This record gives sequence, C-alpha cells and structure tokens, in this order.
Amino acid sequence: MSLEEVDASAWSSLEAATNDPRSGFRFVNLCSVDAAGRPQARMVVLRRVDTAARLLEIHTDARSPKWLELSRNPFVSILGFCASTRIQLRLAGSVQLHFPGSDLAEKAWSGLSVWTRSTYAGGPPGDEPGDNEPVPVMDEAGGRAFFGVVSFRAESLDWFELRRADNRRACFEYSHLGALMVSRWINP
Ligand SMILES: Cc1cc2nc3c(=O)[nH]c(=O)nc-3n(C[C@H](O)[C@H](O)[C@H](O)COP(=O)(O)O)c2cc1C
Repeated sequence: MSLEEVDASAWSSLEAATNDPRSGFRFVNLCSVDAAGRPQARMVVLRRVDTAARLLEIHTDARSPKWLELSRNPFVSILGFCASTRIQLRLAGSVQLHFPGSDLAEKAWSGLSVWTRSTYAGGPPGDEPGDNEPVPVMDEAGGRAFFGVVSFRAESLDWFELRRADNRRACFEYSHLGALMVSRWINP
C-alpha cells in the first residue's frame, strides 16, 4: 500500500464508522486540555466525517466541562483503535464550537432520534443529581437548548498498524483546506 492509499483508507474507515455502530472507530477518544494545562480524555461518538476538509464532527452538551475546556483551548488530540484491523489513528488539530441554536447544531439536532435527544434533557453533566433538589423534568425537545456540535479539523494524522513482527507507522500533514501536504513512513 502506498502512503496515499494508507491515508485514503484511514479516512474511509473513519467515514464508515459514522454509519456503522460496530465499527472500530465508532467511538473515539477526544482529549482536550483543561484550564490547569492538564489533559482530559473521554470517549465520544464519531457523528460525521468530511474527508475532503479533514473534519470530524462530535455531539455534546454545551454545559459540559469539555465544552468550556474547548472554548478556552481549541487544541485537541483524537485517538481511535480498530481491533479488527489493528490500526491506531492519532489525529491532532483544533476544534470549532457550534453553539446551541447555531445552523449546524439545529441541522444535527433535526437528524437525532428521540432517544438521543432525551440524553440532553437532564441536569448539567457532571453536577450531582442531588437528593433534595428536584430532578429537572423536561421532554426530549428541551435538550435542544444544550445541544452543541464540536467540529474538529485535523492538521495531522499518525497512523500505526500493529502487526505480529513488523509494525508499520506513517504520518500525514494536511493544509488548512484539507489537502495532503506531507506523508512519510516513520519508525514505529
Ligand atoms: C462509548 C461512549 C461514547 C460516548 N459518547 C459521547 C458523545 O458522543 N458525546 C459526549 O458528550 N459524551 C459522550 N460520552 C460520555 C463522555 O465520555 C464523558 O463521560 C462525558 O461527556 C463528560 O465529559 P466531560 O466531563 O469531559 O465534559 C460517551 C461515553 C462512552 C463510554
């Protein structure tokens, strides 16, 4: 496989994951940096991929700690591993936040199931449920006010294939518009 083919196959497996809940890259790790400069990693669902622009889209609650972290520091790492192909993808780049009510958030919200919408209708993520406080009662439509979209643009990809004897690794860099600018094999 040429370097260009490696890059293309990495991005096509990311794209495929948005339509296949069993795909290895369906859940990826989004790692941000908090106000104290500490890394903060968590799993997220990969919702949409635009290969040409090198964009990954993630949905979250705009009241969550990650949203605040990302609004202060947009630089993130996204890490995924597919157990069947034994490929690790480590992407670095920055995010743009699409706030509740923005065009992109409204468009994404309109495509969600009632069940998924209801996951945004509870109290603020990370807060204690509180024994004495009333549990917020909201129908699923209420979650719309908190629903945000994180749009990640990859600047680079570190591709790693775990093999029995001869692991392989390559790195790729993208222009601001998503063109593949640099690609090279590196020692694993
Ligand atoms: C498999 C899996 C998928 C998840 N997907 C999402 C997601 O798409 N968006 C999200 O905000 N949280 C998702 N979560 C929850 C996050 O990992 C995290 O616990 C939560 O969002 C709070 O993160 P924060 O406190 O850093 O904001 C997922 C958790 C798991 C285990």
